[in-house]
Amino acid sequence: MASPRAGRQPQNDGYRSLSLSGHVGFDSLPDQLVNKSIKQGFCFNILCIGETGTGKSTLIDSLFNTSFDDPVSTHFQPNVRLRAQTYELQESNVRLKLTVVNTVGFGDQINKEDSYQPIVDYIDAQFEAYLQEELKIKRSLFSYHDTRIHACLYFISPTGHSLKTLDLLTMKSLDSKVNIIPIISKADSISKTELQKFKNNLMSELVSNDVQIYQFPTDDETVSQVNTIMNGHLPFAVVGSTEEVKIGNKMVKARQYPWGIVQVENENHCDFVKLREMLICTNMEDLREQTHARHYELYRRCRLEEMGFRDIGPENKPVSLQEAYEAKRHEFYLELQRKEEEMRQHFVQRVKEKETILKEAEQQIQTKFDHLMLMHQEEKLKLEKKKRALEDDIAMFNKKKANAELLQTQAFVSTPVVSLKRDKDRKNSGFM
Ligand code: GTP
Ligand code: MG
Repeated sequence: MASPRAGRQPQNDGYRSLSLSGHVGFDSLPDQLVNKSIKQGFCFNILCIGETGTGKSTLIDSLFNTSFDDPVSTHFQPNVRLRAQTYELQESNVRLKLTVVNTVGFGDQINKEDSYQPIVDYIDAQFEAYLQEELKIKRSLFSYHDTRIHACLYFISPTGHSLKTLDLLTMKSLDSKVNIIPIISKADSISKTELQKFKNNLMSELVSNDVQIYQFPTDDETVSQVNTIMNGHLPFAVVGSTEEVKIGNKMVKARQYPWGIVQVENENHCDFVKLREMLICTNMEDLREQTHARHYELYRRCRLEEMGFRDIGPENKPVSLQEAYEAKRHEFYLELQRKEEEMRQHFVQRVKEKETILKEAEQQIQTKFDHLMLMHQEEKLKLEKKKRALEDDIAMFNKKKANAELLQTQAFVSTPVVSLKRDKDRKNSGFM
């Protein structure tokens, strides 16, 4: 895999080369750089992806010759998580801030469809955090704890067959974000001939699926030869152990079996030494550089383009940050206006609809009211008619009553004695 390595070609077009007639002192610049870097310390972040129990923690312990006391995971995780732990290590006078990120529960779910997503999200989140720091007005990149992943050790189980779909999918979705170094873990459980076949199968599968794995750089002549040879040994088949066994008069890291001993650091037994050499001794700085210059650069470009920033305008003219910002602002303003107009139209439409509904309701109420008024009028007329008839009846009755009273009075005046006597007789006979 050829990779663009930025800033390695000296640019001397248009400049004159002059010779110095005496010592000036800028030949100490590399030493100054080294001193400064040593003072500042280094950081290195490793991501270990692999199924539960594939030997991730044991290998990291073996690689750094220490015990990180990483807790063991169960096979019952509902989803894939990432666990990051940072350590301060020192070798001679060089301080290393090492962050080891382990997948937890990888490959343990029945549905493994989105198993790689939390890993992608984690890597992106570290890039995003760095980008946000870079975009701040007051940046503190010098003291910033850079958590971007520099190397991804991808643990492949020693099945002897081929890559699992989950491995292919995961590597494919990560290859533009991180330096993938595939390794065959627990290589002591596969025979020598099977191992070579397995390695060939894996590599041809990676190539046919266009999965870009990290290639040790061959453009620096001091390491090009060893790196070229090591690229031919990928993927490394490793054995890890925290156990020490006495071989001759030396204690060595090994795994002891009834039929023999597998020595971790014996190149005839596994590729552990090759991995340690390549990862830590020879290419650690290249891994850091590639992360910044290639993977982060890609992330940054996509994110800034997403935000609307461009280097060149429509007619291939260079666009300044200010112009890009103004263009984005204008675009945003137009979008805002469009949305405002859309909302206004929507509002007018809704008001019109409501008005029609209200008008219809008003019409209905008016019709009902008219109908009720008509009924009321009719009722009123009927009642008035009845009232008049009643009044006539009352008048008639009063007239008749007056006549009757008159007649009674007249009768009483003409026969007073007879009637009194009659009354007396009625009382005496007990009728009253
Ligand atoms: P989790 O973090 O729980 O997912 O496990 P891990 O991937 O960190 O695996 P760990 O290093 O805890 O190892 C799991 C088991 O495998 C332990 O019993 C180790 O001793 C054993 N083991 C680790 N490396 C090797 C190896 O290279 N070969 C063999 N045969 N066994 C190994
Ligand atoms: Mg572990």
